[in-house]
Amino acid sequence: MTISFQDKVAIVTGAGGGLGRAYALELARRGAKVVVNDLGGARDGSGHSDAAAKVVAEIEAAGGTAMANGASVTDKGQVTAMVAEAQDRWGGVHILINNAGILRDKSFSKMSMEDFRAVVDVHLIGSANATRAVWDLMKEQAYGRVLMTSSSTGLYGNFGQSNYGAAKLGLLGFAKTLSLEGAKYNVKVNTLAPTAATRMTNDIFPPEMTAAFNPDNVVPAALFLVSDDAPTNAIVGAGAGVVQAAYVTLTPGYALPEGRRTVEEVAANWDMISDRSGEIVPQSGAEQAMLILKKLQGG
Ligand code: NAI
Repeated sequence: MTISFQDKVAIVTGAGGGLGRAYALELARRGAKVVVNDLGGARDGSGHSDAAAKVVAEIEAAGGTAMANGASVTDKGQVTAMVAEAQDRWGGVHILINNAGILRDKSFSKMSMEDFRAVVDVHLIGSANATRAVWDLMKEQAYGRVLMTSSSTGLYGNFGQSNYGAAKLGLLGFAKTLSLEGAKYNVKVNTLAPTAATRMTNDIFPPEMTAAFNPDNVVPAALFLVSDDAPTNAIVGAGAGVVQAAYVTLTPGYALPEGRRTVEEVAANWDMISDRSGEIVPQSGAEQAMLILKKLQGG
């Protein structure tokens, strides 16, 4: 069965190039009306250009419907106005792909707090601004699909990207709570960790891998995660046509015996505590406390 986005209104932030452009083109091809947001800056976030308008022209040339928006996701007022404009013109907003991003890579010793903040501001606060602007509307509509863009750096770390990693794992924490708060309103929230050859990665990808890691190869996973039958609270890795699922797990652990709740007891049992056999994936934070109680009751 073909998965359609007919009658859906989608906002894709940072869609003037790279992955966002690929998502916007395919959403429009499958019938969505698309807000192509991008302030059109350089990789480090400086400057402006008409990158969004060019993607809108591509969509229109292919017979689709789109509007360009030059808001910076860091500006709550501009983002709120973008959502109001989409709602006025097209009657709602059903899909938000938080994709805008910048890089300011340096090892942590050499990183200024300004570079730390700038990266957190665009990825984490920018995604919160855009999500806040659509959230109540999605609840009222009883329909919403929100995708956060995390990264392998957020999930697993990469040298020189402490600012980016902090922002990207922050987005996962944001998504996990939103998926709980949105559940009864049919608002589903997922997290994608993409891998693609774009200007963001052009100095890490060897040229021979560029074709395999075309952004188009991430599109199927991204669009599935904002489709009618999307899961919620999923963490998905996608690149070069490979789609993976990631989890935040918890080991069964070890109950320090009464009278031996000491640092030494933790040290002596570290192998057992960190042993992954029998680990689970809690569905909410409260579940961790419940599992602790269960463990204590179990002796
Ligand atoms: P890209 O640099 O081509 O796209 C990012 C877009 O965001 C740019 O067009 C840029 O102008 C826009 N943008 C930056 N700041 C903005 C702001 N304040 N407001 C609105 N738009 C803004 O890079 P790419 O690779 O397409 O990245 C897309 C997303 O995927 C980013 O969140 C990135 O961190 C993430 N990602 C990409 C990976 C990859 O392998 N390419 C790996 C992991 C995550």
